[in-house]
Amino acid sequence: MHAAVIQTADAPPVYRDHPDPAERHSDEMVVEVLAAGLHHLTRAKANGSHYSSKGVHPLVPGVDGVVRDTEGNLRYVVLDDTALGTFADRTLIDPRRSVILPDGIDPVRIAAAMNPAMSSWIALRRRVEFHAGQRVLVLGATGNAGRMAVQIAKLFGAAQVVAAGRDTTRLRALTALGADETITYDQIGRAADVDVVIDYVWGEPAAGAMIPMLTARADRTAPLAWIQIGSVAGQTAPIPSVALRSARLQVVGSGIGSVPARDILAELPELASAVAAGAIDVRARAVPLAQVAQAWTAETDDRIVLVP
Ligand SMILES: NC(=O)c1ccc[n+]([C@@H]2O[C@H](COP(=O)([O-])OP(=O)(O)OC[C@H]3O[C@@H](n4cnc5c(N)ncnc54)[C@H](OP(=O)(O)O)[C@@H]3O)[C@@H](O)[C@H]2O)c1
Repeated sequence: MHAAVIQTADAPPVYRDHPDPAERHSDEMVVEVLAAGLHHLTRAKANGSHYSSKGVHPLVPGVDGVVRDTEGNLRYVVLDDTALGTFADRTLIDPRRSVILPDGIDPVRIAAAMNPAMSSWIALRRRVEFHAGQRVLVLGATGNAGRMAVQIAKLFGAAQVVAAGRDTTRLRALTALGADETITYDQIGRAADVDVVIDYVWGEPAAGAMIPMLTARADRTAPLAWIQIGSVAGQTAPIPSVALRSARLQVVGSGIGSVPARDILAELPELASAVAAGAIDVRARAVPLAQVAQAWTAETDDRIVLVP
């Protein structure tokens, strides 16, 4: 078969012949890959920079995807850390880490959407006590995960969703997806009274937003849950101690490790159905797996999906 192979942490993937996978245990299943998303997590696992990466090379990247099993079922699968990912004609899955998809779904759309969408879906369902009628601020709202967070917060009944980012043109487009207000980071005080922050940026923008938000809150004793999910602006954020004392701020993270795998898997069927039903707008671009080297470093707003 063919696969994308990465020889060392800093090397780009090369499309080449690769031995076919073989089942060694009863909980393994060889499947045909139909579509696999190129996410931040895919690159970070492959280059060893993600905290869940074991850094073993050579490896075939790909953390998730849509596959067809030997009985013809379409499945969305999330792989555990492995040297044989989904950027291949065929791969090995543990069927317990997959959900069977409804007939007629578009594999590319599902492969593009599930990773960015599950970040906010799982955070709101599993990391905070979110309920309909609450107000939500999304930091980094113009990215793939951020624009889905806007939509998912609305889907879950948020009374108000404020979308924050750097790019005013991209921010404006979020109104059509449900954002009640769009702001740049220097206008963060306008989101002072939200109940939940979904944070994809961290770094300076998040740290810089905290004190202006907290000091402008109408009621500083009202709970504010700040969910740390991504770190596109920096791995660390200088948070002043007073931020944690002067308001009822609770900072939590959401990702692999802070949410048990069984809880993540439990949310996937409903999320897949929502994506399949068109409840969430998805930006996807299908690229042949043979072009993986160019795709790996391509700059695009769409989520690239490799198709063997
Ligand atoms: N924990 C989880 O479960 C989970 C799941 C999925 C994703 N993530 C993480 O979430 C983050 C976003 O993922 P994504 O798929 O949305 O990525 P994406 O589609 O590449 O979007 C990232 C956005 O971040 C903004 N950005 C980039 N650099 C920035 C900076 N220095 N300061 C402020 N904004 C900046 C950009 O928006 P503008 O240029 O328009 O400002 C960009 O559109 C990543 O860190 C990813 O690893 C976490």
